[in-house]
Amino acid sequence: MTPDTVLISFRDVSRRFSTPRRGEVDALCHVSLDCRAGRITGIVGPSGSGKTTLLRLAAGLDQPTAGEIVYPQWGPSVAPPPWAVVTQEGNLLPWRNIRRNITLPMRLRNVPRREANRRAETLLRQMHLPNDVALSYPHELSGGMRRRAAVATALACRPQLLMLDEPFSGVDEATRRRLGQQVLDLRMQYGQSILLVTHDIEEALLLGDEVVILTAAPGIERVDIELPHPRDPLAKAFERRLIELRHRLTSR
Ligand SMILES: Nc1ncnc2c1ncn2[C@@H]1O[C@H](COP(=O)(O)OP(=O)(O)OP(=O)(O)O)[C@@H](O)[C@H]1O
Ligand SMILES: [Mg+2]
Repeated sequence: MTPDTVLISFRDVSRRFSTPRRGEVDALCHVSLDCRAGRITGIVGPSGSGKTTLLRLAAGLDQPTAGEIVYPQWGPSVAPPPWAVVTQEGNLLPWRNIRRNITLPMRLRNVPRREANRRAETLLRQMHLPNDVALSYPHELSGGMRRRAAVATALACRPQLLMLDEPFSGVDEATRRRLGQQVLDLRMQYGQSILLVTHDIEEALLLGDEVVILTAAPGIERVDIELPHPRDPLAKAFERRLIELRHRLTSR
């Protein structure tokens, strides 16, 4: 796949929810957007602007009420590339300990137990989780740890497309930066495409090749971020971009 290959194409997509108490809720209105191979797309916007809805639609977990979502690479006879979704809640199985959560996708693909355990240890380290959480159950972890364990589980099968919904919220600033760097390293290593939902516009700017801004309007805007990696949040060019993005986000 070349970097310009379109993986997911939103064509004039709307999603309306009919709710008993709030009536009709337009979560997304007429969104057209292409997600391309090997890119990190940061999706930002205020609470309720439709970020999770967009991700769920992209992952096929929900269907649009108007418009269509096309996966141009995959026809009826072409298998989709492996992809993984991490929900805002962190989708772990509560009855399996963390190690057995992380190894499950590998075991399902017949990776030998010993190798799967070894990879789980590496993934825990990459997500800055102490090794001793391996035997803990999800409810015994903090919210931030749980989400990182869910990211580790998602990474276990080296998905080509990774969809993350606020994966690092509830994580302190320094660890968050290191995890962000980890995401970049993984992309370098495996050439993954990543859809990263975040309410933190600075995080989107640090990591994203492009940023998609959703607003409660509802509306959408796509901005290319051509700053080279690694990005320095203290650099003048970065600060300028951040101010510009903040302005775009609040002025709509
Ligand atoms: N299943 C649903 N039924 C009814 N309304 C829904 C449903 N899912 C989302 N909505 C509504 O759609 C709008 C967008 O919700 P969404 O979860 O996509 O927002 P978000 O940008 O992810 O917000 P947050 O930053 O708080 O996670 C909201 O008004 C929400 O209440
Ligand atoms: Mg959300």
